[in-house]
Amino acid sequence: MIAVHDLIFEYKTDGIKIRVLDGLSFNIGGDEWVALMGANGSGKTTLSLLLKGLLTPLSGRIFINGNLVDPSREPEGSLGLVFQNPDHQFVAPTVEQEIAFGLENRGVEPVKLREKVEQHLSAYQLLDHRHRSPSQLSGGEKRRLSLASVLVMEPTGLIFDEPTTLLDPQDRDDFLKFMLSMKGKMAILFITPYPDEALIADRLLILHRGKIAYDDQPSKVFNHSTQLKEWGIGVPSG
Ligand SMILES: Nc1ncnc2c1ncn2[C@@H]1O[C@H](COP(=O)(O)OP(=O)(O)OP(=O)(O)O)[C@@H](O)[C@H]1O
Ligand SMILES: [Mg+2]
Repeated sequence: MIAVHDLIFEYKTDGIKIRVLDGLSFNIGGDEWVALMGANGSGKTTLSLLLKGLLTPLSGRIFINGNLVDPSREPEGSLGLVFQNPDHQFVAPTVEQEIAFGLENRGVEPVKLREKVEQHLSAYQLLDHRHRSPSQLSGGEKRRLSLASVLVMEPTGLIFDEPTTLLDPQDRDDFLKFMLSMKGKMAILFITPYPDEALIADRLLILHRGKIAYDDQPSKVFNHSTQLKEWGIGVPSG
């Protein structure tokens, strides 16, 4: 469902090129849940922006459901991206407008739009907050709004970029329960700095020096004790 072939990406700052992805390839099946780990600055967020069509690779190709991701033609793509910091995702002045925003851009007709917004306000326990500014919500409420505004678009797959790092323990538990309920329903790429969270996935990818250095069951990664340090990966707490 997600197919990445030989992806090369560079940032250019002040004429200096930094190669972040250097011939990256992997596939994710239509209902697979895949965790992605890698050291700070290894390029995880960059990869998520490329998958979403928000950055243009130097070379290589990305297919979502067989369709080429082409940032010059379709910047939105069909994957939902849940940002690490929900405040970076929000664009609208109120909670209900935030949920409606993508649907409006897509030209969904008003009756259908209203219906979907109501459904998602209710499903994510945001009815009481509908007229509030997203910036005034608590951490857990912000996370629920970020999910509602992504899922209302009915994406064919989801990318989560470190979704629990800013949550308190209770909100983190609630969020992980939600993630478990999504398992098997769509392709999920779950970027996490926490080995405990990666253990829940079907598969673990490790990004190192611009390539996939590990692609196997999450639990088996801890057999590679000598490489874990080099890859910048910790071990589970439990
Ligand atoms: N807009 C940018 N311009 C120039 N360099 C950038 C830009 N964004 C990121 N980088 C650099 O590209 C590399 C990869 O960054 P990226 O944010 O993708 O890593 P990451 O794996 O998500 O890191 P983290 O674990 O801190 O979230 C880093 O060296 C970073 O400094
Ligand atoms: Mg990142």
